[in-house]
Amino acid sequence: MTVLTTPAVARSRAELAGLLAGRGTVVLVPTMGALHEGHATLMRIARERAGADGTVVVSVFVNPLQFGPGEDLDRYPRTFDADLALAATEGVDVVFAPVVAEMYPDGVPHEGVPSEAVTVQPGPLADVLEGASRPGHFRGVLTVVAKLFGLVRPDVAVFGEKDYQQLALIRRMAADLCLGIDVVGAETDREPDGLARSSRNRYLDAEQRQQAATLSRALRAAQERASYGVPAARWAAMNVIKGEPGVELDYLALTTTGLGELPDYPETGTEGRILVAARVGTTRLIDNMPLQF
Ligand code: PAF
Repeated sequence: MTVLTTPAVARSRAELAGLLAGRGTVVLVPTMGALHEGHATLMRIARERAGADGTVVVSVFVNPLQFGPGEDLDRYPRTFDADLALAATEGVDVVFAPVVAEMYPDGVPHEGVPSEAVTVQPGPLADVLEGASRPGHFRGVLTVVAKLFGLVRPDVAVFGEKDYQQLALIRRMAADLCLGIDVVGAETDREPDGLARSSRNRYLDAEQRQQAATLSRALRAAQERASYGVPAARWAAMNVIKGEPGVELDYLALTTTGLGELPDYPETGTEGRILVAARVGTTRLIDNMPLQF
């Protein structure tokens, strides 16, 4: 019989510090809550990396700094009891769930609002794709992740590949700022029809849920045509998307694995990435997959 132990919950920095004293290898899984099977995969990886003597910390914090005006900050799902129950089933030791004032004691330093707070300025990689559609988003993400790294001081941090650009920027921040944290990326968890698992999927009604599966179908179509070059792969993906009027495309990009520009006909064997963002109803969804040319 498996005995589940509810993780200890820290609401403040002081409580967190108390729980992490003498802690062994610490592995952090940063989240905004509304946890699902995809997060469970991240927690399992974290548990494995921490080992029996280590400490797995899951942070649950809906970070206001990474939401732009008019985005879904207020309606972002908050499901703390269910999150705690899932964390318990995955052997998480500590759940850090601070209130906003604990993370931003001087107020949230929103873009354009005067503030003396120091925030993390991402490099040019933050200006394309998600960054172009959501100005200031990655400044918000990197700032909160840097704060979480400072508070938890993990040896390892685990993030999903679903937010591929976010993962690339966090890796870059950890390397460029010499943080000494091993940033681990986990493959995207998918529903049986291919839809990438996401906390935002719960906004979709039944019809939109069907339409949303178009995104992963489009990415797979591109994967199948990649050996014919970038234009053919792009055409295959666009063809699938155009067939579903319920999907309003924001961007579809074929890039190098580092999110750089690809030639139309990369050398055979070259690896790349295809990334998509689209709106289904009022819900903005993103997805990406590897490409092999
Ligand atoms: O991926 C997320 O859930 C968030 O962007 C993160 C990394 C927890 C920062 O708020």
